[in-house]
Amino acid sequence: MRKIVINGGKRLRGEVTISGAKNSVVALIPAIILAEEPVILDGVPDISDVESLKDIMEMMGAKIKHEGETLEIDPRGIKSMPMPYGKINSLRASYYFMGSLLGRFGEARVGLPGGCDLGPRPIDLHIKGFEALGAKVEYEDGAMHLKANHQGTKGAYIFMDLVSVGATINVMLAAVKAKGKTVIENAAREPEIIDVATLLNNMGAKIRGAGTNEIRIEGVEHLSGTRHMVIPDRIEAGTYISLAAAIGDGVKIDNVIYEHLESFIAKLQEMGVEMTIREDSIYVYPSQTLKMVDIKTYHYPGFATDLQQPITPLLLTSIGYGKIQDTIYEKRINHVPELARMGANIEVKSNTIYMQGPNELTGTDVVATDLRAGASLVLAGLIASGETTIHNIEFILRGYSDIIEKLQGLGADIRIVEGKASQI
Ligand code: UD1
Repeated sequence: MRKIVINGGKRLRGEVTISGAKNSVVALIPAIILAEEPVILDGVPDISDVESLKDIMEMMGAKIKHEGETLEIDPRGIKSMPMPYGKINSLRASYYFMGSLLGRFGEARVGLPGGCDLGPRPIDLHIKGFEALGAKVEYEDGAMHLKANHQGTKGAYIFMDLVSVGATINVMLAAVKAKGKTVIENAAREPEIIDVATLLNNMGAKIRGAGTNEIRIEGVEHLSGTRHMVIPDRIEAGTYISLAAAIGDGVKIDNVIYEHLESFIAKLQEMGVEMTIREDSIYVYPSQTLKMVDIKTYHYPGFATDLQQPITPLLLTSIGYGKIQDTIYEKRINHVPELARMGANIEVKSNTIYMQGPNELTGTDVVATDLRAGASLVLAGLIASGETTIHNIEFILRGYSDIIEKLQGLGADIRIVEGKASQI
């Protein structure tokens, strides 16, 4: 089992470039199934989730060329077939194959999605959306079987009971080729949804209102090829900005869309972090004394649940009492015991994280339990004095492109070592 080993306490400086958004690309790749010609994606991050999706697409018959950050997918040979279990189960975003296969073939058989353990992650809204579009949905042998009648899906009015990124994108995928008009009410508004709608529209779809809470889709018969640049990863950007604010001696973060990070940046400003915000970069100055703040996660444009764990080590360096409430995933707290073992004054009571700072963290052996908890531990290890060893790092490599190289470029002492199975 590979481990990340960090010698912490070093100040970081320089420039780091943010990669394409993980949560976009994991939807953009399955969306290409709907095209009748090759589609090229630029700005594709080098993460293991992309490798898993490529393998699944190839197994279904797609032809793929991948060079650097450019991914060309020819979907013409794709056949609707039962999804292989292993890969599907490790990937949360594999649920997008339900929407795209249903949209293209009127039928899909997809194993239940896996991904990070953040507590219960139901897909009932996805299923309700597919049913509204005319699909019969059955659960057979650990897989969902979706089937529309011989005419395929048909447009519908769908009110989402809860705001869900995944359900909004999935229904969009299933509806772009449906007969007639679909309206998704109470839709999620995340930038990744706009990115997927932009790709689909450039392929010939007719989607209006992506980025608002009402999305209107006029079904079309054919979707063609196109070329599309993936938007920058706002969560990766927020992770590096937090790190720069904690132990930076001047760090410039390139390829950032500030508007995607407004609520996050506002929190940092409230703490006293100084930044210069430019069109596509953010420069973070060395921090003076920082003030602790409270955080409550919410749907976009609120504070992202995915940034709650990565910002925690920064909060621990600041002065005062603070709390974090995750209203999206209240069990997203697995980083807390690990940070406590590094010496942090942090605990969970009734699903709320309470902290008191400032803290002097000390390196030790810790375990990443999910992607963003892993990012949190990388930051904590870089801030801490002494050596931190992080186990279960495959979670981190699922979602952070070239994380070791990027951190080394800023002067961090961090490396991956091959090791025996975790002892802890
Ligand atoms: C996506 C992101 C994830 C992020 C999350 C919230 C991807 C691949 N993942 O996950 O990184 O943390 O948005 O911003 O883009 N819910 C239901 N029923 C459903 C669907 C969702 O009850 O059918 C609930 C969930 O349990 C959760 C909330 O709705 O409490 C929001 O979840 P959702 O936006 O769907 O998250 P994901 O799309 O899975």
